[in-house]
Amino acid sequence: MFSMFNALPLYIVLSVASYVRGQSCWRDTTCSGPLDTAFPGPWQSNIYSPESRVASPVSILSLANASVISSWPGSAPLQGNASALVFDFGKEVGGIATVNYTASGAGALGLAFTEAKNWIGLWSDSSNGKFEYGDGAIYSNFSQAGDYTYTMDLPRLRGGFRYLTLFLITNDTVTNLNITAISLEIGFQPTWSNLQAYQGYFDSNDEELNKIWYSGAYTLQTNAVPVDTGRWIPALASGWANNGTLGPGDTIIVDGAKRDRAVWPGDMGVAVPSTFVSIGDLTSVKNALQVMYDNQNADGSFPEAGPPLLQQGSDTYHMWTMIGTYNYLLFTNDTAFLEQNWNGYLRAMEARSSKAISLTDPSRTGTVAAMTTTPAISRTHMAGPADRRRRSRTISSDSWSRAGRAYPGPPTPPNALPARNPSCPAPLHNPSSLRKNAYDSAA
Ligand SMILES: *[C@@H]1O[C@H](CO)[C@@H](O)[C@H](O)[C@H]1NC(C)=O
Ligand SMILES: *[C@@H]1O[C@H](CO)[C@@H](O)[C@H](O)[C@H]1NC(C)=O
Ligand SMILES: *[C@@H]1O[C@H](CO)[C@@H](O)[C@H](O)[C@H]1NC(C)=O
Ligand SMILES: *[C@@H]1O[C@H](CO)[C@@H](O)[C@H](O)[C@H]1NC(C)=O
Ligand SMILES: *[C@@H]1O[C@H](CO)[C@@H](O)[C@H](O)[C@H]1NC(C)=O
Ligand SMILES: *[C@@H]1O[C@H](CO)[C@@H](O)[C@H](O)[C@H]1NC(C)=O
Ligand SMILES: *[C@@H]1O[C@H](CO)[C@@H](O)[C@H](O)[C@H]1NC(C)=O
Ligand SMILES: *[C@@H]1O[C@H](CO)[C@@H](O)[C@H](O)[C@H]1NC(C)=O
Repeated sequence: MFSMFNALPLYIVLSVASYVRGQSCWRDTTCSGPLDTAFPGPWQSNIYSPESRVASPVSILSLANASVISSWPGSAPLQGNASALVFDFGKEVGGIATVNYTASGAGALGLAFTEAKNWIGLWSDSSNGKFEYGDGAIYSNFSQAGDYTYTMDLPRLRGGFRYLTLFLITNDTVTNLNITAISLEIGFQPTWSNLQAYQGYFDSNDEELNKIWYSGAYTLQTNAVPVDTGRWIPALASGWANNGTLGPGDTIIVDGAKRDRAVWPGDMGVAVPSTFVSIGDLTSVKNALQVMYDNQNADGSFPEAGPPLLQQGSDTYHMWTMIGTYNYLLFTNDTAFLEQNWNGYLRAMEARSSKAISLTDPSRTGTVAAMTTTPAISRTHMAGPADRRRRSRTISSDSWSRAGRAYPGPPTPPNALPARNPSCPAPLHNPSSLRKNAYDSAA
């Protein structure tokens, strides 16, 4: 989608090749993501993404009081029933864990996951959609002394956590177990071999602001998930299952890594422009929008959430799918996507218009009274050419290093958003008019 990669000079590609050795995409997913950042800069040290698709804990905490016992790798002995250690990955991660251990007798190794430190324990925090209790734990059972390797089953993929509590269940107080290795195969951003290859950047003289921006960018990455790892519906009463099919393609953007792990167009109101300026790869957005068109209702309305949840009945979320479509086209000029879905877009516009109350004609009734004044809608009329050019510059491949120049510091702050363009037609009438609005004047 971003042809700039083809234009990278050879010497960058070569230096990247040695750097990314050993990195990989998720399982059998075809790699389609960028190989390296659009251009290098000091802001890269703020990127939270792991360097590799395989992550490890950084320290061991006490379950009793959450204080640090030691760094990891290190000694990790468990002895007797319910003895436990908490492994801290140092940041939010998600995927499939593998644990190697040595046991002296029969029992079970329990695994429990939490995002926040205040929920660590022998139960995972809540993600399954019932929210009646926590999600419980999963177990690696062993019947005799020996060396074991346990890898979680794919449906048990844990989408978002920082703390992994490992505990021993035995019928006695003498059986002991040593944890010898822990690795986590990261599931998110499945089509990227280099999880740090951001196409946008942010840098200011406020370190707090820089961290906030990169936390947001990393959150978007953790929300780009393999399409067959959505939360299972109907919600389970206990445990968890992330084996739901979310939509087409290899990667799709969901509302949250841990939960709901479903496509929510309302969240995409923020996520689509944010993905564009930070990660810069809109493939997950495209697939999330496509699944809305694939599940458009007979009356033209879009679902409130993607499958398998397929919640219905939100006028605003219906419009967020339309706004998401507009933004996606604005950022990518993916006219093939537009041609494919144009009839659906028109039906969606019709469905929305038929619900609108006219502010000038009191005889017209409907449910979308505020539609002509919400920022959400008028925003589509605000993105003038200057605004678009500014945003596309954010991911421009006009690399400082390519030009042989030193990085001159953060770019000049952008101008204020341009005033609403009174000539912007609404609704948009056909693909060529949308294209014209979105691009031709920017060219
Ligand atoms: C925390 O608990 C551990 C035992 O797990 C104990 O050794 C340590 O002294 C405790 N630390 C604090 C600060 O209470
Ligand atoms: C675990 O390690 C401790 C200390 O290194 C050792 O005493 C114990 O025998 C080990 N247990 C197993 C099952 O290997
Ligand atoms: C623990 O004891 C129960 C009840 O006797 C038995 O069913 C179970 O198999 C035992 N577990 C192990 C790991 O020996
Ligand atoms: C494995 O061990 C756990 C904890 O003791 C137990 O709840 C579970 O039933 C066991 N699973 C199997 C298949 O034995
Ligand atoms: C082992 O610990 C678990 C968790 O605290 C508890 O539910 C179970 O009853 C204990 N088993 C034995 C045999 O004490
Ligand atoms: C864990 O065990 C597996 C199977 O024996 C082995 O291939 C792998 O290298 C071990 N991992 C580590 C980090 O030792
Ligand atoms: C997903 O997991 C749930 C819970 O284990 C199970 O009931 C369901 O059949 C699974 N679905 C598929 C498609 O494997
Ligand atoms: C957008 O795509 C269309 C169709 O491929 C093309 O004609 C047009 O020049 C493109 N616009 C921009 C700004 O790249």
